[in-house]
Amino acid sequence: MIQNVHQPSQTPASKSPMRRIGRFTITDKLGSGSNGNVLLGHDPIIDRAVAIKILNNPGVGAEIKQREQQFINEARAAGRLSHPNIVTIYDASTEGGTTFIAMEFLQGKDIRAILGEGKRFDYIEVANIAYKVAGALTFAHNQGVIHRDIKPANIFLVENNQPKVVDFGIARVPNRTLDENGQPQTLFKNNIMGTPNYMSPEQASSQPVTPLTDVYSLGAVMYEMLTNQKPFSASDFDKLLYNITHKTPKSPDLINREVPEKLAHIVMKAMQKKPHRRYQSAAEMALALNKFLAKEKRARRSARSPLPVAHTFKEAIASKGWLFWLSWGTVLMAAALAYRAFSR
Ligand SMILES: Nc1ncnc2c1ncn2[C@@H]1O[C@H](COP(=O)(O)OP(=O)(O)OP(=O)(O)O)[C@@H](O)[C@H]1O
Ligand SMILES: [Mg+2]
Repeated sequence: MIQNVHQPSQTPASKSPMRRIGRFTITDKLGSGSNGNVLLGHDPIIDRAVAIKILNNPGVGAEIKQREQQFINEARAAGRLSHPNIVTIYDASTEGGTTFIAMEFLQGKDIRAILGEGKRFDYIEVANIAYKVAGALTFAHNQGVIHRDIKPANIFLVENNQPKVVDFGIARVPNRTLDENGQPQTLFKNNIMGTPNYMSPEQASSQPVTPLTDVYSLGAVMYEMLTNQKPFSASDFDKLLYNITHKTPKSPDLINREVPEKLAHIVMKAMQKKPHRRYQSAAEMALALNKFLAKEKRARRSARSPLPVAHTFKEAIASKGWLFWLSWGTVLMAAALAYRAFSR
């Protein structure tokens, strides 16, 4: 359903008749997701490339207007988030019947694509990226914006592995609804949604979404980056949702022996089923990651330049010989002077 396209496609739109959306000239297609297409555009006023996300609005009548307004309102809320690890939103509007968001064109790849290429992340890389994403989430939560759809496809890595979170608050993650018989049903069956693999247990069971939902999903993304396995898998969506709400995945350090226990603990704590057992904020998770990284840095530094440690008394004399003889010499001299003074 979703094209894994991050470089402009092989058939530039410029070869077909020029298309415009608002003031932007469309030059290519970047990819598509559950909301609709993402296009590469050019802003003639600022003279820069922009990524334009089009709302695919399948609603009818008043529903269409409502969805449009919601999309634009949420884009505006996300547009107020100015943070180095959050994609910049330039514009959100409906023009000529097309509802769109114009945002920073990211030159890089999202983590889903990188994992799809078989990349194995070093655990330090994972902790560094997650630390920055947790910082971006902290910033957004403090402004009252919850992402609701943190997943590898929504985290881009640009130069120097800098993460940029996209789709802040724009992603529509429908909760489960009840069908006419009062049975829970999911909206995923109609392909309305992408993957629910990183969805929190509260989202999977129609509970209210809070900032701790993002904490959970960041834990689930870290899980996959550390193990190259999704925390939950199942043959169909309902089973997957059941597993998310009821099963505990194997700790990442048991799947990948290179993952330190402490980092695995951070992931498992973020992914607790009950929100009150998780880190109580993205800031708290960021702090845990920062402490982990600082300890690792210290350990690596001391491994590179071990301090000279004297193990035995003999070694102490050998390594600090001059100091040893100087101290003893002083003591003996003082004793001799004292003896002379008393024996007079
Ligand atoms: N700001 C951007 N800069 C460059 N490419 C982008 C940008 N935003 C999105 N894309 C590209 O467009 C593709 C589609 O993105 P979109 O957000 O619509 O779907 P998704 O996140 O992959 O899946 P879903 O719709 O299920 O959330 C992405 O995979 C990415 O390649
Ligand atoms: Mg997306």
